[in-house]
Amino acid sequence: MPLVAGVDTSTQSCKIVVRDAETGRLVRSGTAKHPDGTSIDPQHWWDAFVAASHEAGGLDDVAAIAVGGQQHGLVALDSEGRVIRDAILWNDTRSAPAAEDLIHELGDGDRDAGAQAWADAVGSVLVASLTVTKLRWLRDAEPDNAARVAAVALPHDWLTWRIAGYGPEGESPLGPRLDALVTDRSDASGTGYYDAEADGGKGAYRPDLVRLALGRDDVALPRVLGPAESGGVAHASVAGADVEGGALLGPGAGDNAAAALALGMTPGDIAISIGTSGVVSAVAPARTADGTGAINGFADATGNALMLAVTLNAARVLDAARAVLGVDVHELADLALAAPPGADGLVLVPYLEGERTPNRPDATGTLHGIRLATSTREHLARAYVEGMLCGLADGLDALRAQGVPIERVMLIGGAAQSPAVQQVATQVFGLAIGVPEPGEYVADGAARQAAWVLAAADDADAPAPAWSTTIATTLDADPRPVVREQYAAVRDLV
Ligand code: XUL
Repeated sequence: MPLVAGVDTSTQSCKIVVRDAETGRLVRSGTAKHPDGTSIDPQHWWDAFVAASHEAGGLDDVAAIAVGGQQHGLVALDSEGRVIRDAILWNDTRSAPAAEDLIHELGDGDRDAGAQAWADAVGSVLVASLTVTKLRWLRDAEPDNAARVAAVALPHDWLTWRIAGYGPEGESPLGPRLDALVTDRSDASGTGYYDAEADGGKGAYRPDLVRLALGRDDVALPRVLGPAESGGVAHASVAGADVEGGALLGPGAGDNAAAALALGMTPGDIAISIGTSGVVSAVAPARTADGTGAINGFADATGNALMLAVTLNAARVLDAARAVLGVDVHELADLALAAPPGADGLVLVPYLEGERTPNRPDATGTLHGIRLATSTREHLARAYVEGMLCGLADGLDALRAQGVPIERVMLIGGAAQSPAVQQVATQVFGLAIGVPEPGEYVADGAARQAAWVLAAADDADAPAPAWSTTIATTLDADPRPVVREQYAAVRDLV
């Protein structure tokens, strides 16, 4: 049976899964950490990839490989294929003023018009996460570096390029071929200079928006591949040495699109992911253009749209609760479940790290309704869990407001395993919730794409392989409107 590899080059680490191409059975895996920080030398991604593939027993026997990864990060390359400066990641907020400038400029000074113009053009109103704002920051803050930019890639594009054997002279077998860079619709759609709906859904770059941000558009951008289109072969020194013809390279995907592929999401499916960021995502036939900025209209990895609401305050809100209370994850869940829904009026607005949806980069969190009766560890634990989920419920409402169908909701990410998060989610969202088996969904989605590319090499119309994700727990809806009513009453006081 042929084997395929899926890679997740995430903010925290590199994870690799090797799976059976036909059944999806997990055969081997490896992982290696990335350094912390919101800007990082991409060399660390390469080193972690090499370490993770070593831990996974090497990749000589895989017939295809694809990379999913953290979205949006700016990897600026010079004409020699060298990284010009540390990559600036999605969670780096230095370009928040640049985002505002670009919005005003596209609207000829009118912010609302500008916000709508960006949503119409690329599916998203700009926030600091999007790559195009980082290009503008570079132009203004580091003009010497900006002048050297010959190509712009995203984290998964860059790693794919290195796996193919390209890179700086002397550090790579094939040298700095910038025209060999490839990407996919999903990750391109998060740059802010790519319109996934252009050309009847084929998608096209918007060089005018690159020029607006950087002051010029003579930079190489990765070729955007179709969902199951191969981007060549991995270099034999990296993967596929024992396979005839080598390991095919998949187009890869942004992490959220890769996870959606692993979960087999189709229109009507919602995934709520509680990790470093909180992501409410929905697959839809076409994106809308939400001028309020609550929803990003990205592309998925199959040819559909992937509508996302992203909050900055997710799993780490629970970490903060554990730190305040001095408890572990199990104790936090026990405490939270010992207080009643609504925590007797104690409400946490969880903007502990500012917020992206709604766009409040400088906000702080607030605790409302502290009385003697609510000054207990149980109430506090409950307020943290409810507040974090209310932030995500606002994202779900924003999807609803865009007319996105909501038929099936899945809860994923590390925190989704908490019994308190699961139970409170059925109350806050007021919907039945499925919790899939815990898994490395991004790496798994990349592996599924690799298997699809392999199948498409024989038959261009082959569908994605029918690997299934098991829903481990299904919870009934238990709507408790009081929780969101209380939250809505205080959310905007901050
Ligand atoms: C999506 C986003 C995050 C990153 C995390 O817009 O910024 O989900 O992709 O890796």
